[in-house]
Amino acid sequence: MKNEQLSPSEIEKKAAALAAVEFVKNGDLVGLGTGSTAKYAIEAIGQKVKSGLNIKTVATSIKTAQLAASFGIEVMDLSKVGYLDISIDGADEFTKNLDLIKGGGGALFREKIVASLTKNSIIIADSSKLVAALGAFTLPIEIVPLAYQYAFEEIEKLGGKCVLRKADGEIYKTDNGNVILDTDFGLIKKPENLSMRLNQIVGVFAQGLFIGLTQKIIMAKENSVEVFEK
Ligand code: A5P
Repeated sequence: MKNEQLSPSEIEKKAAALAAVEFVKNGDLVGLGTGSTAKYAIEAIGQKVKSGLNIKTVATSIKTAQLAASFGIEVMDLSKVGYLDISIDGADEFTKNLDLIKGGGGALFREKIVASLTKNSIIIADSSKLVAALGAFTLPIEIVPLAYQYAFEEIEKLGGKCVLRKADGEIYKTDNGNVILDTDFGLIKKPENLSMRLNQIVGVFAQGLFIGLTQKIIMAKENSVEVFEK
């Protein structure tokens, strides 16, 4: 899509995506993210593949796998891959020390596998995603349906107010057949601590705090691109 047809935030998403795609090299095994920002990166990678870039990829969602295939990008089975050279994904919120909330698009589990496999995990974002502290965006927590009531109560004991995600009036189901609780913890003072406590709850399949999983964040703001890294 041409830039003149895009809103200011879409222009920023696209600029961040195009800057990130420059880091993809011939021969790389690449993780493809999910969401409206990652979509610009996938499209740009597709154009490079058409021009001769030789890469293999894995996808963080069924939707992304389909999108990538539609651009002629080879997508491998995630379960067969033991490392990735680079991944490019979006985020719902991030702080300057590279902590993230992800999962607004429901793909948090596969996104976390991909981020964990990647030597160079790049997050791309428009400027609205930068926050001083995580938590204005409700934290997505993916729950195995059988453990729903137990996990709900345990998360509420930790101070989170849980809302079961719905889509078109139906209970939302992830690519893994699970449900999502969008959870309000207020501003999260100690994300690492909360992340560990959530991981200990039986029935929590994945939660959207990504701590220590990101090497670089590329954020576009108006006409410039800013990079955050440790
Ligand atoms: C998908 O589950 C999410 O983690 C997305 O990466 C996140 O929601 C960002 O999406 P947008 O790029 O659409 O804002």
